[in-house]
Amino acid sequence: MGFPATRLRRLRRSAGLRELVRETDLAPGHLVLPLFVHLEETASPVDGMPGVERLPISGAVARSKRARELGVPAVLLFGIPPTKDDLGSQAWDDEGVVQLAVQALKAEVPELVVLTDVCLCQYTSHGHCGVLAADGSVDNDATLELLARTAVSHARAGADAVAPSDMMDGRVAAIRAALDEEGFGERAIVSYAAKFASAFYGPFRAAADSAPAFGDRRGYQLDPANLRQALREVELDVAEGADVVMVKPALPYLDVIARVRDAVRVPVAAYNVSGEYAMLKYAAAAGALDERAAVLEALLAMRRAGADLIVTYFADEVAGWLT
Ligand code: PBG
Repeated sequence: MGFPATRLRRLRRSAGLRELVRETDLAPGHLVLPLFVHLEETASPVDGMPGVERLPISGAVARSKRARELGVPAVLLFGIPPTKDDLGSQAWDDEGVVQLAVQALKAEVPELVVLTDVCLCQYTSHGHCGVLAADGSVDNDATLELLARTAVSHARAGADAVAPSDMMDGRVAAIRAALDEEGFGERAIVSYAAKFASAFYGPFRAAADSAPAFGDRRGYQLDPANLRQALREVELDVAEGADVVMVKPALPYLDVIARVRDAVRVPVAAYNVSGEYAMLKYAAAAGALDERAAVLEALLAMRRAGADLIVTYFADEVAGWLT
């Protein structure tokens, strides 16, 4: 017997063999496209995210329709309100930007799954994800009621699922109870369960105009050093009624995705965030990376780690490459 006896290259000899033994796939059906929507008439580019724009509602409808045609089943909406206040009251306004966008999408692209981000940071004048206490910290329990109100308002507009991204304790239970009470028992909660206080949200905060005016989000988002605590967040959200749990960011947290996948039975989502998008786009623009190959590899890695679905600004572009 020749040495070596075990030859793994036997199964790599041809494209057909490689395909037969491939363990993970990436398809448009796994992707969710995030969209920034505002009440202005025209689109405006987002600094730091080449190819991403803040869209008027008509533009969000058009882009969603194209994405759906390419096989992307869902969008995740972020609203940029025309005005802000201390409480973030535009967030639960039935005539607010997200609510109007959901109504338009449901009317014009009925087969599209519409998810809405539920948080107050784009809506508060101070940019934090909830109501401020006298000492400047975010008041957890006072915020819960406002988040629940926001989620109900999104459901009333027609959202299929609400995605709370605020990281307050107890928000999933509060939102579930409010949705059920208002007759929206069939609407799902996609919880940003393991959301880390990350530097990779930089371009998003410019896009959504949601950077905190003072301080940072470390008082509520997870410490990037903590895996066990992330698992506790996930377990708690599942116990409170989350239908899907999300890990965010994705690329620097593939270990967390893998551990979450093992820990729970609900679907796991990965959020390929704005900074990850920017990294790949700028490296490709500089000629340092082959964009298509690098993006497909990054998203496949999230699937391999255990993500069932992936929220990514590349969603429609990738769907175009895959079909
Ligand atoms: C709002 C929210 C953020 C993101 C999604 N929802 C920003 C933050 O928490 O500061 C980040 C998304 C991205 O970077 O692509 N709470």
